[in-house]
Amino acid sequence: MGQFTTEVLATETKVSFDHAVQTVAKILRRDEVVALPTETVYGLAGNAFQPEAIRKIYAAKERPQTNPLIVHVAGWAMVERCVREWTESAAQLTRAFWPGPLTVVLQRSDLIPDEITAGGDTVAIRWPSHPVMQAVIEECGFPLAAPSANRSNELSPTQAQHVLSQLSGAIPLVVDGGHCVVGIESTVVDLVGRPARVLRPGMIHTNALSVATPGIEWAGSDDGSGRRSILRSPGMTARHYSPKARLVVERWEDRMGFDDAVRRLGKPRSAISVIAYNVIPEVYGFCWVSLVPHNSEAYARALFSELHLCDASGCEVILVEAPPCEVEWVGIWDRLRRAAVEGWDFR
Ligand code: TXA
Ligand code: MG
Repeated sequence: MGQFTTEVLATETKVSFDHAVQTVAKILRRDEVVALPTETVYGLAGNAFQPEAIRKIYAAKERPQTNPLIVHVAGWAMVERCVREWTESAAQLTRAFWPGPLTVVLQRSDLIPDEITAGGDTVAIRWPSHPVMQAVIEECGFPLAAPSANRSNELSPTQAQHVLSQLSGAIPLVVDGGHCVVGIESTVVDLVGRPARVLRPGMIHTNALSVATPGIEWAGSDDGSGRRSILRSPGMTARHYSPKARLVVERWEDRMGFDDAVRRLGKPRSAISVIAYNVIPEVYGFCWVSLVPHNSEAYARALFSELHLCDASGCEVILVEAPPCEVEWVGIWDRLRRAAVEGWDFR
């Protein structure tokens, strides 16, 4: 329930696309917030220069104010309005990966309100590649603050339907731009200090970043450096992207290993959903079984959708087959780790 009857706008024809962009821009100019597709996950967008709009984003998500937002731009002129200085590594990284699933943290300009940065002196900026998001930003002429369009601490949305399931009634509009092709949130890189540090891993992994700009470090788990009093990146707090069911990650080599993993859960098969990609179990008797592709990009694209399906199945436990421990999978591991409470096996 909520104050709105949430409308969904399609974008698959030129006419519906243009109509959606015009309608959304009109709403955003009134400092209201709407859910928009990006290539990573759906975002809950509002005018980044208007504190009133930002407050509505936090309210709709029930997000703690200590958790800063990403500002989405389209074009270099807009970047200039958001940051105080542009560094050499920012130029190198954005030349390589923008528009795309990379967010850079830099010193903020005076136009960026405190509400976005949680009072900090830096701002996170991303130029997204999704055509709907780009067209809306261009039509508005101002950048859009947009966290993932989920309720705080719940699963991120990669389809319009996921947004509706969490925010129906809380926002006036969702634009349906199809299934997000990246599927997990952007890689966040802090370029304020030296060395540059990855605050949140994503599908642009450390090796790829290092090719564009040398000397990037992984911030790892919370380093407690306290350089800023705001949370360095809430992706670092435990249990951030959670399904409702308990999530357990296990590795199994064969049918017997799988059966053992199931037995260790101590639940009947009817209470268990399975996400497997390599050793596919016999599916009989489970609450739900998701088979996901076994290259990292396709896996990431499927992950949140499959977690949403598992949750919708009403299971008590989601048993996930552990992905490979390789650099392309670090972002995926990060999301699984945050969704899980137990069951680690790093073999
Ligand atoms: O792919 C994405 O980044 C999606 C889409 C919608 O663009 N957005 C997203 O936003 O994931 P959100 O709010 O769910 O996550 C923003 C991340 C958080 O980890 C936050 O702490 C970090 O960016 N962040 C934002 N501003 C920051 C800042 N000034 N310093 C450090 N981290 C910051
Ligand atoms: Mg989020």
